[in-house]
Amino acid sequence: MTDTNTTRASSMEKIVALAKRRGFVFPGSDIYGGLANTWDYGPLGIELKNNIKQLWWRTFVQKRPDMVGLDAGILMNPRVWEASGHVVNFNDPLVDCKTCKSRFRADHLLEEKLGILDAATKSPDEMSAILKEVNLACPHCGNRTLTDARQFNMMFSTTIGPVSETGTRVYLRPETAQGIFVQYKNVVASSRVKLPFGVGQIGKAFRNEITPGNFIFRVLEFEQMEIEYFIKPGDGEAAFEMWLEAMWSWVRLLELNEDHIRVREHDPAELSHYSDRTVDFEYDFPGSMGWKELYGLANRTDFDLRSHQASSGVDLTYFDQAEGTRYLPHVIEPTFGVERSILTVMIDAYDEESTVDVNGKADTRVVMRLAPRLAPYKAAILPLAKKPELTSVARDLFDRLQDDLGVMIDYDETANIGKRYRRQDEIGTPFCVTVDFDTLEDEAVTVRDRDSMTQQRIGLSEVAGFLRDAIR
Ligand code: GAP
Repeated sequence: MTDTNTTRASSMEKIVALAKRRGFVFPGSDIYGGLANTWDYGPLGIELKNNIKQLWWRTFVQKRPDMVGLDAGILMNPRVWEASGHVVNFNDPLVDCKTCKSRFRADHLLEEKLGILDAATKSPDEMSAILKEVNLACPHCGNRTLTDARQFNMMFSTTIGPVSETGTRVYLRPETAQGIFVQYKNVVASSRVKLPFGVGQIGKAFRNEITPGNFIFRVLEFEQMEIEYFIKPGDGEAAFEMWLEAMWSWVRLLELNEDHIRVREHDPAELSHYSDRTVDFEYDFPGSMGWKELYGLANRTDFDLRSHQASSGVDLTYFDQAEGTRYLPHVIEPTFGVERSILTVMIDAYDEESTVDVNGKADTRVVMRLAPRLAPYKAAILPLAKKPELTSVARDLFDRLQDDLGVMIDYDETANIGKRYRRQDEIGTPFCVTVDFDTLEDEAVTVRDRDSMTQQRIGLSEVAGFLRDAIR
């Protein structure tokens, strides 16, 4: 029996603990004491991640006639990053403590310690002047020995070939977008796309963040799902609005709570070097984190194509057959972080429910109310007891459902049924299907709903159809 109901996870610690306990996310290199801010996805985490990526790909690439896909490399010619402006502009303002050697992002210090909300719009010199004026103490050791703010380039680099003067220095891409810009000409030539059209890509990006942290929120290695949507110059405003609405639809597909999402317009001084207009989808994270960027939508104008055309010497103009003219398309860019999608989905799905057990004792049920389309397992098949007559029927049903539905189904014959239900609740499995002794007589099973905990009896032959409808 359920009496009260708490809301989503009140702290990140609960999510981190559940993620490790149940095999969603593990600390990277765990047996060696980890490597700060690296995380690995466990057996259930990889399923959740894949479900999010596949849903995104299906929604934005496969189902839209105006979209195609691409999978570009992480390593690119270093001239790409000179032309894109990342070598010069992809910086964060860094402050060191001379005493304890801690490092901070200057704009974060101004925001969090001095309440300056538009800190990101200030130049490093302006930030340094403010820090000097208030003589801010180091948040780590308390000494007033912070340096001036200086720009720190966030791109990781490595060397191709033997490490010597002859080796070529290359960067690990800090955004997937540039792969799309440099292949734009090949896509146009090979796929007969016509403006407006977009290219979608999912892949790894790397950033040497000064202040990574908050679990998988800000990490060094992460995945982006990005779209570069090519349009006729002048059509930017309408395309921007169209993508704003499409991004809201995506948030609804993930079943995120819309009260935890807001759209924030960037101040002109805050805009990235390539952007004419940017809005962030922000999410209200629990605890002291508060509102932080989840996704972004930017009008990149023709900045990137123009820069690559100038730098490579290759004509990147588009021939508009209807108008008989050539021009450089403009670009609207909706961008989505995979890690932040996983994190917010888990935070919103997490619930602690006060219940009373069969003996009348107060109890707490932890349940992940994941959208069925995202849940790692869509159903679990549970024989009531580990008796051959039950396990053979349960195994049979398990095999049949795998074939009929083509989705992940769990099978569990260990521990008592109550414990098995609780495990499935914690990992977000929408339905538990129990094979009991009555099944041998009536050829029916008990299907338990994760959220309401109500149970219904369904014929063995109807389980696949029931689950298919419920999951959809
Ligand atoms: N191509 C545009 C671009 O990269 P961005 O706002 O810097 O824009 C896009 O990044 C998205 O990538 C963010 O909205 C966020 O979801 C994700 N992201 C950025 N940095 C991240 C990090 N260090 N760790 C995890 N996700 C990150």
